[in-house]
Amino acid sequence: MTSDAVPIPFEVDPFERFRSGFPALRHKTYLSVCDKMILHDDVRAGVDRFLDHLAEASANRADHELMVVSSRQRFARLMNVDASTVAAVRNVSDGVNTIAWAMPMAEGDNVVVCVDAEHPNNIYPWLRLKRRGNEIRLVGHLPDGSLDLDAMINAIDDRTRIVTCASVTFAPGHRTDLAKLGEACRQKGAFLLVDGVQSAGILAHNLSDLPVDGFATSTSKGLLGLYGYGFLYVSPAWIDRLEPAYLSRPAVAMTTDDHSVMGGLDYAYQPDSRRFEVGSYNLAGAYAADASLDLLLDLGIEEIETRVLELSASLNEGIAGLGLPVAVPARGMQQSHIVTVGVLDAGGHGFSTDPTIGLLSKRLEEAHVSHTIRRGQLRFAVHAYNTLDDIKHTVDVIAGG
Ligand SMILES: Cc1ncc(COP(=O)(O)O)c(C=O)c1O
Repeated sequence: MTSDAVPIPFEVDPFERFRSGFPALRHKTYLSVCDKMILHDDVRAGVDRFLDHLAEASANRADHELMVVSSRQRFARLMNVDASTVAAVRNVSDGVNTIAWAMPMAEGDNVVVCVDAEHPNNIYPWLRLKRRGNEIRLVGHLPDGSLDLDAMINAIDDRTRIVTCASVTFAPGHRTDLAKLGEACRQKGAFLLVDGVQSAGILAHNLSDLPVDGFATSTSKGLLGLYGYGFLYVSPAWIDRLEPAYLSRPAVAMTTDDHSVMGGLDYAYQPDSRRFEVGSYNLAGAYAADASLDLLLDLGIEEIETRVLELSASLNEGIAGLGLPVAVPARGMQQSHIVTVGVLDAGGHGFSTDPTIGLLSKRLEEAHVSHTIRRGQLRFAVHAYNTLDDIKHTVDVIAGG
């Protein structure tokens, strides 16, 4: 090369760069984010920074809590809402129970939930309210396992305070039409609470534009953070209509942010979603979430969704092309990042009574393709780090190649 040759700028594809930060992907085809996240090097570095501070006594609590503030802001950006609507919570259960007990409800007021399609952590909180004297309207799902939205809408009446659903069910993995359900809730003044853990960080939810009143998630799946840290969004129209069941310092409005300072005995709640926060934060979780949200925001949630839906459609069609029953449509409103194979409820959590599913699971395991079995179905889930090669390899393994 002559000395005046102009170097060609070498741009690494941002998705490839993202992928290269996950050690697990060097020896695995990872299709199990519906079960749990995998760790990116930057997220580990965030947690290490926290641990280094603890080891060296080099930061105080207020310094650490800047990560709570920053992760709330980043989650709010991801969901296109104002940071003041976001509370730092522990997990989905924490967010769901927070709403269940903060909602003013008289005896006989009701909650509508699709019983068989929801995760237990979005069912037990409501069964608990039944013991308090509230009615829980348990609606069944459609034969394909998707939410029966018409039945849910028919169950809403003037005494319905809360309607709840998953943004994407954990199995079979249908995406819910939140606009349709939310419109019906708005007409009756009911609160639509979404368990968003399966889709947060993977599919785009523009919460400012959707008739969704609450959205609860942990960071332990698509948000690529740790267990025990999550977010609860509450729409501005509802925040000051809800009274937190638990109360401690972070939820009390004061001129200082120092969480050890006692105010007067006559207190006011925080004017924003911090009124739903309780006690000390999971700070390791906040450091992790801040780093993982930074990565996701860099890629862009619309871009992530587009990539993920292309990959999940390829996987869906590839498996269907082998003559196997795929549960969720490959395209359209109900498509998500999850692809499930086999007969619904032919088996349960981690097992199938269908010998074909058992055989495929063994074959996939031997080929280091991470997957799970839920409700008897073989389950895969795609995230932004997956590639078309992952999909081709998985289809080849299923085909016996
Ligand atoms: C739809 C759904 N909701 C909730 C959870 C877990 O709830 P939590 O974050 O309270 O542990 C899961 C975990 O698999 C899930 O798939």
